[in-house]
Amino acid sequence: MTESLFQLPTAGEPVIDTFDRMIRTGPIVPYELPGGVQAWMAVSHQAVEEVLAGDGTLFSKSTKNCPAMHDGTVPADWPLRVLTDADHLLNLDGADHMRMRRAIARAFTPARVAQLQPRVQQLTDDLIDRFADQPEIDLVEHFTMPLPVAVICELFGVPAGDQAKFRGWTATLISHTSSGEQTQAAMGEMVGYLTGLVEDKHRDPGDDLTSDLVRAQPENGITDAELVEMLWIIIVAGHETTMHLLGNAVVALSANPDQLATAKDGDRWSEVVEETLRYRNAACAMFNRYALTDVRIAGVDIPAGAIVGWFAGVGRDPRKHADPQVFDIARDHSDQLAFGRGPHFCLGAHLARLESHIALATLYRRFPELRLVCDPAEIPYAPQFMTNGPLCVPVHLRSLG
Ligand code: HEM
Repeated sequence: MTESLFQLPTAGEPVIDTFDRMIRTGPIVPYELPGGVQAWMAVSHQAVEEVLAGDGTLFSKSTKNCPAMHDGTVPADWPLRVLTDADHLLNLDGADHMRMRRAIARAFTPARVAQLQPRVQQLTDDLIDRFADQPEIDLVEHFTMPLPVAVICELFGVPAGDQAKFRGWTATLISHTSSGEQTQAAMGEMVGYLTGLVEDKHRDPGDDLTSDLVRAQPENGITDAELVEMLWIIIVAGHETTMHLLGNAVVALSANPDQLATAKDGDRWSEVVEETLRYRNAACAMFNRYALTDVRIAGVDIPAGAIVGWFAGVGRDPRKHADPQVFDIARDHSDQLAFGRGPHFCLGAHLARLESHIALATLYRRFPELRLVCDPAEIPYAPQFMTNGPLCVPVHLRSLG
């Protein structure tokens, strides 16, 4: 690896621009994670397909298979360890992963998710009613963040009064400006809270997915500690991504009024969602896979033990998509990689699609004249590289005239 190694994040550069530079360099490129930890990132469509096809054979998700995590190369207080060292869905392989995934997967099938439609619509309407008479609001604070938090927390039986806590813990865990101490404290509090929630559901089960998982423990064999690991990754992944998908969609539509008009006229919100996933995916650096052997990816040799990630915004690869910087909802999205592929394919993909379709359709139906207060180029983005979305989206809800 050379001195001109890419850094994720690169100080002063929007993360999406760093990824675009990587894409121009090669199909899979060496880079540095925070703390100077050296790794590889697959950034072309072909390289990402090859990495994902190697799950469980060429690549492991478990740090047990990464010498650098144990020989002192990666420090013990590395802030990202709270994410990489835990035994949750995203860090398990093979039978261990299947056992956990099977226990929850049936709650997220297309048919089960479709049943959530009326409740998601209700939560959307209630949130909009709260700010509908305002002339101007920040959509992130009032809509794109609280909606996904409410949907995923309610599904798992987190009381409404406690739901905002998950946003705070998640923001600390995801931000690359957090110290190891801060991420460990946030994780400790979140795990403590969820341990209490699981205990509550043992005593007083309700009509929610945590209670369902607790009731099924005799069959699924999942311990309380495993259940807590599963809950936090689902609640974190279940809102952090969807909130940024919504924010990214509103900014892209504001910057492309012709596309907004087409979406409104034809009720083409599903295509808006797919194009946003391609054009500016909320999920970015899926950084934790470990090469089980020397491996060749898209013609590039990667050594055994390497930390290998993939860019979930790979829809920006010009080798695959013509004019990738153009937001065009009419594109063919059949080869979408935004939710991954294979055993770790996003558990919540159907929910994310349902939720964002309802949210965008309802928002623009209620406020047909909604528009950004500022230039899209002035929107600030969150300081992180695993996900990507606006920190705030200030909008006029209606025309001033
Ligand atoms: C815009 C919305 C979303 C995007 C772009 C997204 C993206 C992804 C991607 C790319 C992966 C694969 C990671 C890998 O291969 O390393 C993944 C996995 C996962 N996602 Fe999502 N996600 C979204 C929404 C959700 C929601 C709503 C949930 C809630 C259930 C969720 C829960 C998960 C979980 C639990 C995994 C790990 C699955 C496993 O390892 O078996 N995601 N997601």
